[in-house]
Amino acid sequence: MKTDVAIIGAGPAGLLLGHLLRAEGVACVVVERQTGDYVLSRIRAGVLERTTVSLMERLGLDARLKSEGLPHGGFNLADGERLIRIDVEALTGQTVTVYGQTELTRDLMDACDERGLEVIYDAGEVALHDIAGDAPYVTFVRDGGEQRIDARIIVGCDGFHGPSRQAVPASVGQVFERVYPFGWLGILADVPPCNHELIYANHERGFSLASMRSATRSRYYIDVPLTEKIEDWSDDRIWDELAVRLGPEAAAQITRGPAIEKSIAPLRSFVFEPMRYGSLLLCGDSAHIVPPTGAKGLNLAASDVHYAAEALVAFFRHGDADAVAGYSARALARVWKSERFSWSLTKLMHRFPDDGPFERRMQVAELDYIANSEAAQRSIAENYVGLPV
Ligand code: APR
Ligand code: PHB
Repeated sequence: MKTDVAIIGAGPAGLLLGHLLRAEGVACVVVERQTGDYVLSRIRAGVLERTTVSLMERLGLDARLKSEGLPHGGFNLADGERLIRIDVEALTGQTVTVYGQTELTRDLMDACDERGLEVIYDAGEVALHDIAGDAPYVTFVRDGGEQRIDARIIVGCDGFHGPSRQAVPASVGQVFERVYPFGWLGILADVPPCNHELIYANHERGFSLASMRSATRSRYYIDVPLTEKIEDWSDDRIWDELAVRLGPEAAAQITRGPAIEKSIAPLRSFVFEPMRYGSLLLCGDSAHIVPPTGAKGLNLAASDVHYAAEALVAFFRHGDADAVAGYSARALARVWKSERFSWSLTKLMHRFPDDGPFERRMQVAELDYIANSEAAQRSIAENYVGLPV
């Protein structure tokens, strides 16, 4: 098989890029290790920046997002005594949209046939070849035989554990990483949210987050030591801990119910440079990971894809090789700003095991400063709604 762009990974980054390229007449094929159902089974965050919503609008795939997505004009920080509302709409003129990543991926997936985007699922042993040159190719095993896709460009949208980043020579790549000393225990339940907006809380017992998927489905998190096992956390124990950490005002509004899903996920900040090597571009989690505190993971994947699509359309439609050459620097400039925001909000809202009384006073002082400073709130707000692309 021969194409212009071979995309590895059919998560949100891979499917979004595939649709954008198809819409511009750039030939591409997506190769995915898992089944479509498996991809949709993943529970991920869903707070969309304007940029992400705009890409779905541009593709004409925003119908469900418009009808089911929840526009949010603000969110809350809680310090155990009060809710500090960050009025993002008043401070930036923008809102964010609460819409599960699973639903966005479903919208992209459901449009593949009608839009002529070819996605090869169940592709085993996906490998990248000759990425340093201008005739790279991808091989994979499917239906018992090895298959090959010759492309001019390969884009790795294969997430943190995929092969694309690994294909960049160690002498070229540089990793920047911080692993956090806690994980997030998440619970999904078909109960109404405790608040109409998100609440991020820093309590003496630890972090908690009250989020949602809809008016009838809630998503909550608490941070736990990395040694914790989900089987030691009954639903009741999780609800009890949430009621304490979110504070009495929010706790009074919590509706309990059976967990549809509950799991513990580790947190890390991670960036791989460069995001382009030879004929390989990296997008999304294949190149970077953020702690979910800033809800940036999906939105960073979307802005990478925005830059990659622009560069590839310029390259294939107008012979502009500079756009591809400049992709990594352009994408990383926004990646690092989102990494900073996610890291800073994580530092502000979590109790780190090595922190002492001084560090706790710093958190209290910063939250008090934010509560009383429009300038501080504006800074948080413009990062939360998403910096310009
Ligand atoms: N071959 C083919 N596909 C692969 C391989 C492989 N060897 N390894 C991984 N994949 C696929 C995964 O199965 C997954 O469907 O690549 C896809 C990567 O998707 P994501 O991990 O969702 O990453 P991305 O598309 O960049 O989206 C980032 O997802 O993980 C969240 O928090 C993250 O919200 C952010 C978003
Ligand atoms: C979620 O709803 O899963 C969610 C929302 C905001 C975050 C992280 C997760 O910062």
